[in-house]
Amino acid sequence: MINVLTFILIFLINNTSNEPDNRIITTLKYSSKKYARPTVVNGVPAKWGQVPFIVSIKEQLLKVSKLKKMWSNICGGTIIGPIKVLTAAHCFERKNFYYKKHPQKLRVVAGEFLTELIHTGNTDTTDKCQWRKITKISIHPEFYFPENDIAVVLVNEPWIFKENVDYILPARRNIDYPLGCTAAGFGSIADAMNKQRISPVLLIGQMFLLSKKNCSSIWEMNMDKFICTYSYMSDISYGDSGGPLICKGTKDPTERQQKKNALLVGVVSGKNFDKTSIFTRVASFRQWIDKEAPTI
Ligand SMILES: *[C@@H]1O[C@H](CO)[C@@H](O)[C@H](O)[C@H]1NC(C)=O
Repeated sequence: MINVLTFILIFLINNTSNEPDNRIITTLKYSSKKYARPTVVNGVPAKWGQVPFIVSIKEQLLKVSKLKKMWSNICGGTIIGPIKVLTAAHCFERKNFYYKKHPQKLRVVAGEFLTELIHTGNTDTTDKCQWRKITKISIHPEFYFPENDIAVVLVNEPWIFKENVDYILPARRNIDYPLGCTAAGFGSIADAMNKQRISPVLLIGQMFLLSKKNCSSIWEMNMDKFICTYSYMSDISYGDSGGPLICKGTKDPTERQQKKNALLVGVVSGKNFDKTSIFTRVASFRQWIDKEAPTI
Protein backbone atom coordinates (compact mmCIF):
# COMPACT_ATOMS: atom_id res chain seq x y z
CA MET A 1 0.00 0.00 0.00
CA ILE A 2 1.95 2.97 -1.15
CA ASN A 3 2.00 6.32 -2.79
CA VAL A 4 1.06 6.33 -6.47
CA LEU A 5 4.30 7.89 -7.70
CA THR A 6 6.29 5.28 -5.90
CA PHE A 7 4.14 2.70 -7.56
CA ILE A 8 5.30 3.68 -11.02
CA LEU A 9 8.86 3.29 -9.82
CA ILE A 10 8.19 -0.23 -8.64
CA PHE A 11 6.62 -1.07 -11.92
CA LEU A 12 9.75 -0.10 -13.79
CA ILE A 13 11.93 -2.06 -11.44
CA ASN A 14 9.59 -4.97 -11.76
CA ASN A 15 10.22 -5.11 -15.49
CA THR A 16 13.91 -5.62 -14.92
CA SER A 17 13.45 -8.45 -12.45
CA ASN A 18 14.13 -11.98 -13.60
CA GLU A 19 10.48 -12.89 -13.83
CA PRO A 20 8.97 -10.02 -15.77
CA ASP A 21 5.22 -9.77 -15.81
CA ASN A 22 4.38 -8.70 -19.34
CA ARG A 23 0.66 -8.82 -18.94
CA ILE A 24 -1.08 -5.54 -19.57
CA ILE A 25 -2.77 -5.82 -16.24
CA THR A 26 -0.05 -6.47 -13.76
CA THR A 27 -0.50 -8.62 -10.71
CA LEU A 28 0.33 -7.26 -7.32
CA LYS A 29 2.04 -10.31 -5.98
CA TYR A 30 5.19 -9.79 -3.97
CA SER A 31 8.54 -10.98 -5.06
CA SER A 32 11.71 -10.32 -3.11
CA LYS A 33 13.12 -8.80 -6.30
CA LYS A 34 10.92 -5.73 -6.06
CA TYR A 35 11.88 -2.76 -4.00
CA ALA A 36 10.17 0.49 -3.20
CA ARG A 37 10.65 3.35 -0.84
CA PRO A 38 8.63 3.16 2.36
CA THR A 39 6.30 5.97 1.48
CA VAL A 40 3.03 6.13 3.28
CA VAL A 41 0.62 8.67 1.92
CA ASN A 42 -2.93 8.10 3.01
CA GLY A 43 -1.98 4.53 3.66
CA VAL A 44 -1.48 4.39 7.39
CA PRO A 45 -0.08 1.69 9.66
CA ALA A 46 -2.89 -0.46 10.99
CA LYS A 47 -3.68 -0.30 14.69
CA TRP A 48 -3.92 -3.35 16.95
CA GLY A 49 -7.15 -5.22 16.20
CA GLN A 50 -8.17 -2.89 13.39
CA VAL A 51 -7.95 -5.52 10.61
CA PRO A 52 -7.94 -8.78 12.60
CA PHE A 53 -9.08 -10.80 9.58
CA ILE A 54 -6.02 -10.13 7.41
CA VAL A 55 -3.29 -12.74 7.06
CA SER A 56 0.05 -12.82 5.34
CA ILE A 57 0.90 -15.82 3.17
CA LYS A 58 4.62 -16.35 3.51
CA GLU A 59 7.41 -18.18 1.79
CA GLN A 60 10.76 -19.04 3.26
CA LEU A 61 13.36 -16.49 2.22
CA LEU A 62 16.47 -17.85 3.91
CA LYS A 63 17.69 -19.97 6.76
CA VAL A 64 18.85 -17.95 9.75
CA SER A 65 19.94 -20.88 11.89
CA LYS A 66 19.29 -24.58 12.14
CA LEU A 67 15.82 -23.94 13.51
CA LYS A 68 14.90 -20.44 12.44
CA LYS A 69 14.13 -19.11 9.01
CA MET A 70 13.28 -15.75 7.61
CA TRP A 71 9.80 -15.63 6.13
CA SER A 72 8.67 -13.08 3.62
CA ASN A 73 5.24 -11.99 2.47
CA ILE A 74 4.08 -13.17 -0.96
CA CYS A 75 0.44 -12.25 -0.64
CA GLY A 76 -2.29 -11.17 1.71
CA GLY A 77 -5.45 -13.10 2.48
CA THR A 78 -8.61 -12.86 4.56
CA ILE A 79 -9.86 -15.21 7.29
CA ILE A 80 -13.43 -16.21 6.42
CA GLY A 81 -13.80 -19.14 8.84
CA PRO A 82 -11.96 -21.16 11.51
CA ILE A 83 -9.64 -22.82 8.97
CA LYS A 84 -10.48 -20.88 5.81
CA VAL A 85 -8.63 -18.08 4.13
CA LEU A 86 -9.68 -16.34 0.93
CA THR A 87 -6.98 -15.02 -1.37
CA ALA A 88 -6.08 -14.47 -5.03
CA ALA A 89 -5.38 -17.37 -7.39
CA HIS A 90 -2.42 -15.63 -9.02
CA CYS A 91 -0.56 -15.78 -5.69
CA PHE A 92 0.23 -19.40 -6.53
CA GLU A 93 0.78 -19.35 -10.29
CA ARG A 94 4.51 -18.61 -10.26
CA LYS A 95 6.79 -21.35 -11.60
CA ASN A 96 3.95 -23.35 -13.08
CA PHE A 97 1.87 -23.35 -9.87
CA TYR A 98 4.75 -24.62 -7.73
CA TYR A 99 3.15 -23.63 -4.41
CA LYS A 100 -0.20 -25.11 -5.38
CA LYS A 101 1.65 -28.42 -5.69
CA HIS A 102 3.73 -27.82 -2.56
CA PRO A 103 1.43 -25.98 -0.13
CA GLN A 104 3.42 -27.34 2.82
CA LYS A 105 6.21 -24.91 1.92
CA LEU A 106 4.05 -21.87 2.71
CA ARG A 107 2.82 -20.46 6.00
CA VAL A 108 -0.15 -18.30 6.90
CA VAL A 109 0.36 -15.75 9.66
CA ALA A 110 -2.39 -13.80 11.43
CA GLY A 111 -2.21 -11.03 14.02
CA GLU A 112 1.24 -9.81 13.03
CA PHE A 113 2.09 -6.35 11.70
CA LEU A 114 5.58 -6.94 10.43
CA THR A 115 6.10 -8.37 6.99
CA GLU A 116 9.40 -10.12 7.41
CA LEU A 117 9.64 -12.50 10.33
CA ILE A 118 12.14 -14.90 11.77
CA HIS A 119 10.38 -18.02 12.96
CA THR A 120 10.70 -21.80 13.05
CA GLY A 121 7.68 -22.11 10.77
CA ASN A 122 5.98 -24.46 13.22
CA THR A 123 2.28 -24.12 14.00
CA ASP A 124 2.20 -21.60 16.79
CA THR A 125 -0.34 -19.54 18.75
CA THR A 126 0.82 -16.67 20.94
CA ASP A 127 -0.92 -13.54 22.22
CA LYS A 128 0.71 -11.61 19.45
CA CYS A 129 0.37 -13.81 16.39
CA GLN A 130 -0.69 -17.18 15.02
CA TRP A 131 1.25 -19.34 12.55
CA ARG A 132 -0.44 -22.04 10.49
CA LYS A 133 0.56 -24.47 7.78
CA ILE A 134 -1.50 -24.98 4.63
CA THR A 135 -3.26 -28.28 4.02
CA LYS A 136 -4.98 -27.37 0.77
CA ILE A 137 -5.09 -24.67 -1.87
CA SER A 138 -8.18 -24.57 -4.10
CA ILE A 139 -7.75 -22.39 -7.13
CA HIS A 140 -10.80 -21.41 -9.14
CA PRO A 141 -10.92 -23.89 -12.05
CA GLU A 142 -11.47 -21.12 -14.58
CA PHE A 143 -8.72 -18.87 -13.31
CA TYR A 144 -6.95 -17.03 -16.09
CA PHE A 145 -5.58 -13.77 -14.79
CA PRO A 146 -7.32 -11.48 -14.15
CA GLU A 147 -10.46 -13.58 -14.66
CA ASN A 148 -11.65 -15.62 -11.65
CA ASP A 149 -8.62 -14.58 -9.61
CA ILE A 150 -9.73 -16.28 -6.41
CA ALA A 151 -8.50 -19.15 -4.22
CA VAL A 152 -9.44 -20.76 -0.90
CA VAL A 153 -6.67 -21.86 1.43
CA LEU A 154 -7.26 -24.31 4.28
CA VAL A 155 -4.97 -24.16 7.32
CA ASN A 156 -3.91 -27.08 9.50
CA GLU A 157 -5.34 -25.85 12.81
CA PRO A 158 -8.25 -23.52 13.58
CA TRP A 159 -7.47 -19.89 14.26
CA ILE A 160 -8.04 -18.83 17.84
CA PHE A 161 -10.38 -15.86 17.47
CA LYS A 162 -9.58 -12.89 19.69
CA GLU A 163 -9.09 -9.16 19.43
CA ASN A 164 -6.31 -9.29 16.85
CA VAL A 165 -7.34 -12.46 14.95
CA ASP A 166 -10.89 -12.82 13.67
CA TYR A 167 -12.94 -13.69 10.60
CA ILE A 168 -15.05 -11.53 8.31
CA LEU A 169 -17.94 -12.70 6.14
CA PRO A 170 -17.78 -12.39 2.35
CA ALA A 171 -20.49 -10.28 0.71
CA ARG A 172 -23.40 -12.11 -0.90
CA ARG A 173 -25.21 -9.37 -2.72
CA ASN A 174 -23.74 -8.39 -6.03
CA ILE A 175 -24.44 -4.67 -5.91
CA ASP A 176 -22.66 -1.32 -5.97
CA TYR A 177 -21.07 -0.81 -2.57
CA PRO A 178 -20.40 2.52 -0.85
CA LEU A 179 -17.89 4.76 -2.61
CA GLY A 180 -15.34 4.80 0.17
CA CYS A 181 -14.00 1.44 1.40
CA THR A 182 -10.77 0.15 2.91
CA ALA A 183 -8.02 -2.11 1.64
CA ALA A 184 -5.18 -3.51 3.72
CA GLY A 185 -1.89 -5.14 2.89
CA PHE A 186 1.76 -5.79 3.52
CA GLY A 187 2.76 -4.03 0.30
CA SER A 188 6.40 -4.26 -0.65
CA ILE A 189 8.47 -1.67 1.15
CA ALA A 190 12.23 -1.55 0.99
CA ASP A 191 14.68 0.89 -0.50
CA ALA A 192 15.35 0.67 -4.24
CA MET A 193 18.77 2.27 -4.14
CA ASN A 194 20.70 0.61 -1.36
CA LYS A 195 18.51 -2.48 -1.17
CA GLN A 196 18.25 -2.25 2.58
CA ARG A 197 15.47 -4.29 3.97
CA ILE A 198 13.35 -2.15 6.18
CA SER A 199 10.76 -3.94 8.28
CA PRO A 200 7.53 -2.99 6.58
CA VAL A 201 4.32 -2.97 8.49
CA LEU A 202 0.71 -3.70 7.70
CA LEU A 203 -0.92 -0.68 6.08
CA ILE A 204 -4.48 0.29 5.44
CA GLY A 205 -5.72 2.74 2.86
CA GLN A 206 -8.93 4.26 1.66
CA MET A 207 -10.11 3.15 -1.79
CA PHE A 208 -12.65 4.92 -3.97
CA LEU A 209 -14.99 2.51 -5.71
CA LEU A 210 -16.43 2.96 -9.17
CA SER A 211 -19.92 1.78 -9.95
CA LYS A 212 -20.16 -1.45 -11.98
CA LYS A 213 -21.42 0.59 -14.90
CA ASN A 214 -18.58 3.10 -14.77
CA CYS A 215 -16.02 0.36 -14.35
CA SER A 216 -17.27 -1.48 -17.45
CA SER A 217 -17.28 1.71 -19.46
CA ILE A 218 -13.64 2.51 -18.54
CA TRP A 219 -12.49 -1.02 -19.39
CA GLU A 220 -14.79 -1.25 -22.42
CA MET A 221 -15.87 -4.72 -21.38
CA ASN A 222 -18.18 -6.35 -18.86
CA MET A 223 -16.53 -5.92 -15.44
CA ASP A 224 -19.36 -7.33 -13.31
CA LYS A 225 -17.08 -9.86 -11.62
CA PHE A 226 -14.62 -7.15 -10.56
CA ILE A 227 -14.60 -4.13 -8.31
CA CYS A 228 -12.71 -1.17 -9.72
CA THR A 229 -11.12 1.49 -7.58
CA TYR A 230 -9.26 4.64 -8.43
CA SER A 231 -6.88 6.40 -6.12
CA TYR A 232 -5.65 9.86 -5.38
CA MET A 233 -3.04 9.07 -2.82
CA SER A 234 -2.94 5.58 -1.39
CA ASP A 235 -3.22 2.53 -3.56
CA ILE A 236 -2.72 -1.19 -3.64
CA SER A 237 0.73 -2.36 -4.65
CA TYR A 238 2.98 -5.39 -4.97
CA GLY A 239 2.55 -7.68 -2.01
CA ASP A 240 -1.02 -6.59 -1.41
CA SER A 241 -2.46 -9.25 -3.74
CA GLY A 242 -5.00 -11.54 -2.14
CA GLY A 243 -5.72 -9.06 0.63
CA PRO A 244 -9.12 -7.69 1.60
CA LEU A 245 -11.29 -4.84 0.38
CA ILE A 246 -13.78 -4.08 3.13
CA CYS A 247 -16.88 -1.90 3.07
CA LYS A 248 -19.18 -0.62 5.77
CA GLY A 249 -22.76 0.42 5.22
CA THR A 250 -23.44 -1.95 2.31
CA LYS A 251 -27.06 -2.92 1.69
CA ASP A 252 -26.08 -6.58 2.06
CA PRO A 253 -27.92 -8.28 5.00
CA THR A 254 -24.79 -10.39 5.65
CA GLU A 255 -23.16 -7.27 7.08
CA ARG A 256 -25.53 -7.26 10.03
CA GLN A 257 -24.47 -10.79 10.99
CA GLN A 258 -21.06 -9.44 11.87
CA LYS A 259 -19.99 -8.26 15.29
CA LYS A 260 -18.34 -5.23 13.82
CA ASN A 261 -20.38 -4.12 10.83
CA ALA A 262 -18.16 -4.53 7.81
CA LEU A 263 -18.10 -6.92 4.92
CA LEU A 264 -15.44 -8.45 2.71
CA VAL A 265 -16.36 -7.31 -0.80
CA GLY A 266 -13.15 -7.77 -2.80
CA VAL A 267 -9.81 -9.54 -3.09
CA VAL A 268 -6.81 -7.49 -4.29
CA SER A 269 -6.02 -8.67 -7.82
CA GLY A 270 -4.15 -6.25 -10.09
CA LYS A 271 -4.13 -2.98 -11.93
CA ASN A 272 -3.73 -1.34 -15.26
CA PHE A 273 -1.99 2.00 -14.96
CA ASP A 274 -4.19 3.61 -17.62
CA LYS A 275 -7.40 2.34 -16.12
CA THR A 276 -8.08 1.30 -12.54
CA SER A 277 -7.00 -1.03 -9.80
CA ILE A 278 -9.09 -4.20 -9.79
CA PHE A 279 -10.37 -6.50 -7.09
CA THR A 280 -12.09 -9.85 -7.52
CA ARG A 281 -15.73 -9.29 -6.56
CA VAL A 282 -16.39 -11.94 -3.89
CA ALA A 283 -20.19 -11.77 -4.25
CA SER A 284 -19.78 -13.12 -7.80
CA PHE A 285 -18.10 -16.24 -6.40
CA ARG A 286 -20.38 -17.08 -3.49
CA GLN A 287 -21.38 -20.48 -4.86
CA TRP A 288 -17.81 -21.47 -5.55
CA ILE A 289 -16.62 -20.23 -2.13
CA ASP A 290 -19.47 -22.08 -0.39
CA LYS A 291 -18.56 -25.26 -2.23
CA GLU A 292 -14.84 -25.02 -1.52
CA ALA A 293 -15.30 -23.75 2.00
CA PRO A 294 -18.61 -24.99 3.43
CA THR A 295 -20.16 -22.78 6.08
CA ILE A 296 -18.11 -21.83 9.09
C1 LIG B 1 -20.00 7.32 -12.64
O1 LIG B 1 -19.71 8.19 -13.70
C2 LIG B 1 -20.45 9.40 -13.68
C3 LIG B 1 -20.16 10.15 -14.97
O2 LIG B 1 -18.80 10.33 -15.17
C4 LIG B 1 -20.08 10.17 -12.43
O3 LIG B 1 -20.82 11.38 -12.36
C5 LIG B 1 -20.38 9.32 -11.21
O4 LIG B 1 -19.94 9.99 -10.03
C6 LIG B 1 -19.69 7.97 -11.30
N1 LIG B 1 -20.12 7.17 -10.16
C7 LIG B 1 -19.45 6.14 -9.67
C8 LIG B 1 -20.00 5.51 -8.44
O5 LIG B 1 -18.45 5.69 -10.16
